[in-house]
Amino acid sequence: MTRKKVLVTGGAGFIGGNFVQYMVNRYPNFDIYNLDLLTYAGDLTKHKNIESKDNYHFMKVNIADHHAIIPLFEQEKFDFVVHFAAESHVDRSISDPGVFVRANVLGTQVLLDAARAVGVTKFVHVSTDEVYGELDFDPDTFFTEETPLQPNSPYSASKASSDLLVRAYYETYGLPVNITRCSNNYGPYHFPEKLIPLTISRVLNDEKVPVYGDGRNIRDWLHVLDHCSAIDLVLHDGEIGEVYNVGGHNERTNLEVVKTIINTLGKSENLIEFVKDRLGHDKRYAIDPTKLELLGWKPTYTFETGIADTIEWYLENKEWWEQIISGEYQGYFAKQYSL
Ligand code: NAD
Ligand code: DAU
Repeated sequence: MTRKKVLVTGGAGFIGGNFVQYMVNRYPNFDIYNLDLLTYAGDLTKHKNIESKDNYHFMKVNIADHHAIIPLFEQEKFDFVVHFAAESHVDRSISDPGVFVRANVLGTQVLLDAARAVGVTKFVHVSTDEVYGELDFDPDTFFTEETPLQPNSPYSASKASSDLLVRAYYETYGLPVNITRCSNNYGPYHFPEKLIPLTISRVLNDEKVPVYGDGRNIRDWLHVLDHCSAIDLVLHDGEIGEVYNVGGHNERTNLEVVKTIINTLGKSENLIEFVKDRLGHDKRYAIDPTKLELLGWKPTYTFETGIADTIEWYLENKEWWEQIISGEYQGYFAKQYSL
């Protein structure tokens, strides 16, 4: 049997990195190609344990670089593409939208052209629930795959634009695609600019935790390994052209999340500092994952087990996040929180 080639874009980042590990270990007969530009959010130290494996390969390339991407696809003839690479932080998109359009919109279009040129078996586009906009606080409302796209931030607008391009390449050229739209992930190697790792790292250093507005905004948290199994399932069994929402019914207010972390670490809630709200801050996200569950997916973590494991991971892997927050991150943090 010929070995299948799976291209994973953004495999040096948080979710893509976890997915690369998952695939390299689960499918020794697949060749996993990690393609990443290594922006501020990408790092390869997380792959030290697999870098000598025969089925793992790394390439430093910008997905928006047509001149690099098209010949690469022609040479390697990938069977599958799982596309994570993106600028992913909402706050950064508010201060600099242009980079999000180039990476997320143009980058996706270049990959779609390349996938079409070589006739891939499937292109899985990893998107986000943020493309649906926001829900109000009525606990009986959820995002389904039919919810209209109403993105509110430059980040979610760039992701929604990329989703529409993926759909257009399916409708126009018959490119075999799936789109997944996942809720907030958390777990190992989450970059410490995002709420959960930012809170863990700051609480461990006895530093104030900035909570936007009144802290009542709600997010629907999913452990990253449950996201990886969902993508694996969609890659293998997803019906061509379909969208699948991914989420585990784990809604929490931001304040609940921050307090859980503080209490687990035995620190004082006085570390909480309410700061100026995020512009256009979406009130609530909540996913209805029925369609994916009908395909056979079931999450394995509750929020309680997942957050306990994650806090443990950050305690055991201090050198990873300490090296990040001691670098250029400090300038970002001072600017973002106007210190
Ligand atoms: P991340 O910021 O941790 O990682 C992104 C990776 O993409 C980095 O390694 C970066 O170097 C790479 N990258 C950025 N621009 C690139 C370019 N032009 N060319 C090649 N590589 C580039 O992001 P993440 O949180 O792991 O998110 C991965 C994907 O999942 C994104 O598409 C995001 O929209 C989506 N998503 C994230 C979440 C979440 O909670 N983090 C939830 C749903 C969907
Ligand atoms: O819903 C999926 C999305 O989840 C992904 O598409 C994005 O890539 C990912 O970054 C995430 O977006 P959020 O904006 O929801 O995540 P973030 O961790 O930035 O913020 C979570 C909540 O916490 C949000 O309501 C804003 C709030 N927050 C965030 C930060 C960084 C704070 O209160 N203080 C903070 O310092």
